[in-house]
Amino acid sequence: MKQTMTMIDNRDGKSYEFEIKEGTRGPSVVDISSFYPQTGMFTYDNGYTSTASCTSEITFIDGNKGELRYRGIPIEELANKHSYLDVCHLLLTSKLPTKEESLAFDLELRHRSFLHEGLINMFNSFPTNAHPMAALSSATASLSAFFYNHLEMKDDYEYQEMARRIVAKMPTIAALAYRHSIGASFIQPDISKSFTENFLYMMRAYPHNRMHIDPEGERVIKPIEIQALDTIFTLHADHEQNASTSTVRGVASTGAHPYVAISAGISALWGRAHGGANESVIKQLEMIGSVDRVDEFIARAKDPNDDFRLMGFGHRVYKNFDPRAKILKSLQDQLKDELNLDSNLMQIANKIEQIALSDEYFIKRKLYPNIDFYSGVILTALKIPTSMFTPIFVIGRTVGWITQWIEYKKSKGAKIARPRQLYVGK
Ligand code: ACO
Repeated sequence: MKQTMTMIDNRDGKSYEFEIKEGTRGPSVVDISSFYPQTGMFTYDNGYTSTASCTSEITFIDGNKGELRYRGIPIEELANKHSYLDVCHLLLTSKLPTKEESLAFDLELRHRSFLHEGLINMFNSFPTNAHPMAALSSATASLSAFFYNHLEMKDDYEYQEMARRIVAKMPTIAALAYRHSIGASFIQPDISKSFTENFLYMMRAYPHNRMHIDPEGERVIKPIEIQALDTIFTLHADHEQNASTSTVRGVASTGAHPYVAISAGISALWGRAHGGANESVIKQLEMIGSVDRVDEFIARAKDPNDDFRLMGFGHRVYKNFDPRAKILKSLQDQLKDELNLDSNLMQIANKIEQIALSDEYFIKRKLYPNIDFYSGVILTALKIPTSMFTPIFVIGRTVGWITQWIEYKKSKGAKIARPRQLYVGK
């Protein structure tokens, strides 16, 4: 039987009925698509705290339990037992690959990772110190000029080709953006290397400017570094309808090219309330400078008259420990042992974490460390330059964005995303 909710307008006693829909997990939703035709009013939901914008089969989050699943599989299982590329295969095709499929997928992505010379030349017009995120967003939009045919795709094969192409090229574009930002010349991928190793290689190889590219003089990429970065990519691969993904879907709804939708997602991610937080975490830890000053900054974060916020704390959806943060915390401990790390930044981060987890202000507001709190510290330990933290988030998330783009395109009755407003002007 159809489940409904009745709403009564207390001004005139009129009642209106709306259908309640059930998903396979998570809260039910009230379908208010007939709200305006029935009542002549709009609903108002500042920041979409109570609004489901679509139906989706890709990713599920239970923010109260601290649970995250891709295609039904818990993130812990994926992070511990599968490579990032297998996770990409899962997101894109709804199934984990067999051994043969895994090899074929890996090989295909290696072959698709190269960039057209025209795109590489475009970088010459950016200032040399351009932030890699600015270059990444522009270069991704420009890819639509090189693959204009993806505007009209006929079948699944073409959707997959388009998606695999952007996933494969993103590390190359990110490495190019980084090398340009330090004035180093570009190198193409090395097809003998895996997805994650190749990215580290393209960032670090051939120290034209050894000071910047390889501060410690180490040229060997350690297996633990590849494993850690691969896990970071997996943990960032998708996160249902967050700000950047909603942006990608919004652009998809206008019928624009998929790569400009991804470029818009990159721009949305850059802000420090979203993916830019990982860079801000490290800048903030550097600003705090020493363990002795942590109390002072915790007091500032709690002061309602100070707009200072602890970067890497709080989340719109998680009102419990972010499950991705839990995985990264144990990865951080593992790296600490294996790379023999005990940096000043790590000590400051540990103290902030300890205080915040036991402080009434944070407990009451359910402010836990989020993924960015730990990823920033881990990426610093891996000697990744701070300006590349958010581009690394982009590399991991590209598969999620493009999977959501495809899901939007294939959904029946998809409408242009067009919210309304409460007009309060003249
Ligand atoms: N430090 C101190 N206080 C905080 C913090 C923080 N990091 N985050 C939220 N609060 C407080 C707010 O001041 C508010 O307090 P009040 O009720 O006394 O006014 C309360 O907690 C609720 O905060 P909101 O801003 O309403 O929460 P919202 O869900 O809108 O925002 C957000 C979530 C943007 C992530 C916020 O917690 C924040 O700014 N965190 C820091 C930036 C960050 O780490 N972003 C990364 C998010 S994860 C990601 O995108 C990958």
